[in-house]
Amino acid sequence: MCGIVAYTGRGDCKNILLSGLKRLEYRGYDSAGIALLSPQKKAYTVTLVKEAGKIRELEAELAHTKMKGHCGIGHTRWATHGEPSRENAHPHQDCLGQISVVHNGIIENYAQLREQLEAQGHTFASDTDTEVLPHLMEQEDSNDLLVAMQKVVKKIKGSGAIVAIDPRNPQQLVGARIASPLVAGISKNGNFLASDIPAVLEHTRRFLIIHDQETVKVTPHKVEIFDKEGRAVKREPFKVNWSISSAQKGGFADFMLKEIFEQPQGVKETMRGRLSGGQLRFEELNMDEQQIKGLKKIQIIACGTSYHAALAGKQVIEKWARIPVEVDYGSEYRYRDPIMVPDSLLVAITQSGETIDTLAAIREAKKRGGRVAAITNIVGSSAARESDAVIYTHAGPEIGVCATKTFTAQVMVMYLMGLYFARIKGTITEHSYRELMEELDAIPQKIQEILNGSKQIKKIADRTSRYACFLFLGRVYSLPMALEGALKLKEISYIHAEGYPAGEMKHGPIALADKKTVVVGIMPQDAVYEKLVSNIQEVKARGAHLFSISTQGNDRLAKNVDDCFHIPPAAPALSGILTVIVLQLYAYYIAKNLGRDVDQPRNLAKSVTVE
Ligand code: G6P
Repeated sequence: MCGIVAYTGRGDCKNILLSGLKRLEYRGYDSAGIALLSPQKKAYTVTLVKEAGKIRELEAELAHTKMKGHCGIGHTRWATHGEPSRENAHPHQDCLGQISVVHNGIIENYAQLREQLEAQGHTFASDTDTEVLPHLMEQEDSNDLLVAMQKVVKKIKGSGAIVAIDPRNPQQLVGARIASPLVAGISKNGNFLASDIPAVLEHTRRFLIIHDQETVKVTPHKVEIFDKEGRAVKREPFKVNWSISSAQKGGFADFMLKEIFEQPQGVKETMRGRLSGGQLRFEELNMDEQQIKGLKKIQIIACGTSYHAALAGKQVIEKWARIPVEVDYGSEYRYRDPIMVPDSLLVAITQSGETIDTLAAIREAKKRGGRVAAITNIVGSSAARESDAVIYTHAGPEIGVCATKTFTAQVMVMYLMGLYFARIKGTITEHSYRELMEELDAIPQKIQEILNGSKQIKKIADRTSRYACFLFLGRVYSLPMALEGALKLKEISYIHAEGYPAGEMKHGPIALADKKTVVVGIMPQDAVYEKLVSNIQEVKARGAHLFSISTQGNDRLAKNVDDCFHIPPAAPALSGILTVIVLQLYAYYIAKNLGRDVDQPRNLAKSVTVE
């Protein structure tokens, strides 16, 4: 889960790589480096600069380094093998300091390869798995870097997007993709390779996705792709319409806050084309009515925040469409010899489309003959390409490491899917269906109303930022949001938080409640509201500070708690997409009060492409 950017062309390579790395920092940020092919009297040499820490450390170092060149590679790292340090930062080089390589992924057989290379006289400068790559290429002793790359790729086990340069081919970038993402950008001023599109969006809008097991040769005027056997592949570039400003902060203090405020739009875009004129459409599912009517089970797989969207999905699909739904973590599913029920559907939810555990679950299900539909925010991602069907959330690029707008877009897809299945299966009355469709239509506006109340949420956060422990309690539709609220707070504030079913508190966690605890009761007015009132009173009696999230008009509750925020009224099954907005803002303001870096929280990465 590192980030790669590479360029060859007429432009100022150093600054192009540096700005690309800044956009990629969300993929990992414990060290960074760049290598440039610099013209000397007769030949080219490699200039290499790398630093531990964030990109700004590298930038400071570059400010007093003379570095010229038009072809180079850059990398921002999130450590897997070897501690975060200057030595372990990429690029890594061969013994002669010529072939220079950046890599995102894990080489599983690196220890064995390193042993062989060392026995043959190669010396290593780092503890990384990546460093075997330049030495293996050197070993190929080929003047053609592409040929060397194609041979080396066959020797390694694991995953990786790899880009290499060699001063003997001074205008050329050579790349390979084994699972981890890699795209090529095309422009008049030169061409690019990168881990994702936003890295080079300021320079071009024309892109090619490099597919799994392909290699690529990039020169200033040409991008050539080759399949596993080394045969040339023809692929047309596509155009990206995102504006550059949408990949930037747009006036907000942080990407996270900007992305929280973009949720009315993200949810609306996700509904667009799927809900119109009172009708629901889901052609992307590639399932006809008979197949949907015959569905015996839905298995949802996801990790992190996406797992909470899956739990929200289970509730509405079972409630409306009466199809049994099982939810599992990708990291568990792949190892537990899962049962593939005939006439079932596996739904993989992953905003990045690159989470390795979710991808492994997709592969496991496909191996067992299952039908897989992916829900992802990234067009052309691995999950999208490997599944039988793909449903895109149209939340736009999410730069903040912790998921906000991609989450509500995923939850919206779950609502739409649940209603779509229910409609086809005839498990919902015409009246309820119409009512829910109208309610869905109103969700973006209701999210906006909550955002308009952000100052009030900030005040509550200001009063409670210094508490040591937070318990988020919910039942039924509020339970996935309680889990998500606790995860958001943990991710960005580093405070201990737990999400829990309110009714289960008395079986253990209530022992945690004391004067240093904040209890967040997620309690919109629904069938379990009264039960929640009793549950939270139990913790109040132990001295905890009570913050409740309830429905407008519920003034009685406000009198019995320390803090209260009211959401607009909504159908109980749809209240989760509203309560979670309050929880995101609450976590955000607490983290800011504690001086945390909310966009790049410690130890986390946006896209986890290792196990
Ligand atoms: C990482 C991110 C989380 C995300 C999880 C799953 O841990 O930090 O925010 O929820 O991966 O990511 P996915 O892309 O599969 O939804």
